[in-house]
Amino acid sequence: MKRIVIFASGSGSNAEKIILQYKNNSQGNVFGIFTNNPNAKVLEKAKKHNIESVIFSKDDLSNGFVLEKINEIKPDLIVLAGFLLKFPKAIIEKYPNKIINIHPALLPKYGGKGMYGINVHKAVLENKETETGITIHYVNENYDEGAFIFQKSVTIEKCHSAEEIAEKVLELEHLYFPQIIKEILNSKI
Ligand code: GAR
Repeated sequence: MKRIVIFASGSGSNAEKIILQYKNNSQGNVFGIFTNNPNAKVLEKAKKHNIESVIFSKDDLSNGFVLEKINEIKPDLIVLAGFLLKFPKAIIEKYPNKIINIHPALLPKYGGKGMYGINVHKAVLENKETETGITIHYVNENYDEGAFIFQKSVTIEKCHSAEEIAEKVLELEHLYFPQIIKEILNSKI
């Protein structure tokens, strides 16, 4: 049984897709939902699916509290699904090649500090891109710079707002993120 931990700061729609993939599945399960946002909708999803949640402050990320909580779970994979704080070096060093992130654009374009959620899609729209997509990658110390695992593009020629782009991208995320997680867990660990 592979052990997954998810970090999320917002609505947690990706988190829920991952939870559902592993519900009643003997290959793996989500053992914890970690969030820095006490009002995050992802907490309701954790409760609904009976998954332990951990709420922490920005300081807790680097003062050892979060690392200790992760160590208690002993995860095979740590998944950042809409997690908006920088992931600390101390945890990355303890879990090499076991932390992945999803980014709502085709990195290396539209990545880096401040590039998250709707900000990404607004920038894509402003630049009149004809396509965008998703990138799933390993997490290193710099925002959005770890090795790529998977990318998928989608045409946005008919989109006239950042929200429309967001919807198309989220559809891709929901389709591919759980699948890629399954592949990583089956092959690598
Ligand atoms: C997703 O689109 C994810 O790619 C993005 O936040 C959204 C979270 O949605 N992540 C980033 O922008 C990270 N830089 P969700 O909470 O509904 O899964």
